[in-house]
Amino acid sequence: MSQPSLFFITGKGGVGKSTTAALIAKHHANLGKRVLLVEIGDSSYYSMLFKKPIAFDPVEVSSNLFVSHWQWFRCLKEYVTHVIKIETVTNLFFENAVMKSIIQVAPGLPEIALLGKFTSSIRHVGPSMPYDIVVMDAHSTGHALSMLRAPKGLFETIGFGPLGDHSKGIHDTMMDSELVKYITVCLPEELPVTETVEFTETLKTEFKIESEVWLNKVLPIQADAETIDQWQETAATDDVKKAANYIQGQVQKQKTSFEILEKTDRLHKIIYYRSLDGEAINWLSNLEKESKDV
Ligand SMILES: Nc1ncnc2c1ncn2[C@@H]1O[C@H](COP(=O)(O)OP(=O)(O)OP(=O)(O)O)[C@@H](O)[C@H]1O
Ligand SMILES: [Mg+2]
Repeated sequence: MSQPSLFFITGKGGVGKSTTAALIAKHHANLGKRVLLVEIGDSSYYSMLFKKPIAFDPVEVSSNLFVSHWQWFRCLKEYVTHVIKIETVTNLFFENAVMKSIIQVAPGLPEIALLGKFTSSIRHVGPSMPYDIVVMDAHSTGHALSMLRAPKGLFETIGFGPLGDHSKGIHDTMMDSELVKYITVCLPEELPVTETVEFTETLKTEFKIESEVWLNKVLPIQADAETIDQWQETAATDDVKKAANYIQGQVQKQKTSFEILEKTDRLHKIIYYRSLDGEAINWLSNLEKESKDV
């Protein structure tokens, strides 16, 4: 198996990062690729979505699609075990009280441990990860920036030695657009759009990273503005009028969001709103069928 392609999915809290990451993972699994979908938060969203316990060791939730929940401490321990080779020695290292407190407060270590595992196959470090594609459902925007800054921070501080070299390797991999694809998820609402424009611009200026923007939860409204105006004028009851008002507001917000995002040239895909009824796998397949390129 050649080196995997990595997908890093971020966006403002609650915009649909986990859903989009799962959608991308399912898409590639359908194409016959062996895919690992990784979540890194405190709790597991995918356990709920796929109705299966998801932990550190990957679980196959549908053909070719494996899901894993990484805790940074576990990633670090796995890496150290791999370097030291003897688990009992690693345990001594991690269970030492002084070592434990150093590890807990070292700045950027959690982020580096997670990105270290994410990029490990490409850097040929650590246990093998036999996947064609690894999709990370990453932190939301602010925290994602800290995550991307962490390896550089460490190698600039340390400068030499194995930890410095590893941090540099992680940084160089994350900055390589041939290896890592960045997707920022957004909603057709004012705040997420503003945050997305600022965030993607920061990625570009600070890291030279070009991120695609995927606009999620777009209402698939076919009616044009004139028809919606007519609905409002001819609404027979207050409820219908309210519904027409809501749709009109939503259509306007969507239009403004498209206009702002299109100017940045980063808007690549639209995912429509579709309520989750039944199996998550079917839901993802339907979301994929209905999503469209911009
Ligand atoms: N296109 C969609 N249609 C319908 N529901 C959606 C869609 N995208 C996401 N959702 C729902 O919206 C909620 C938030 O989505 P999701 O959990 O993917 O967001 P998130 O950005 O990962 O959130 P968090 O920041 O909390 O991790 C979930 O309940 C999800 O099922
Ligand atoms: Mg999430």
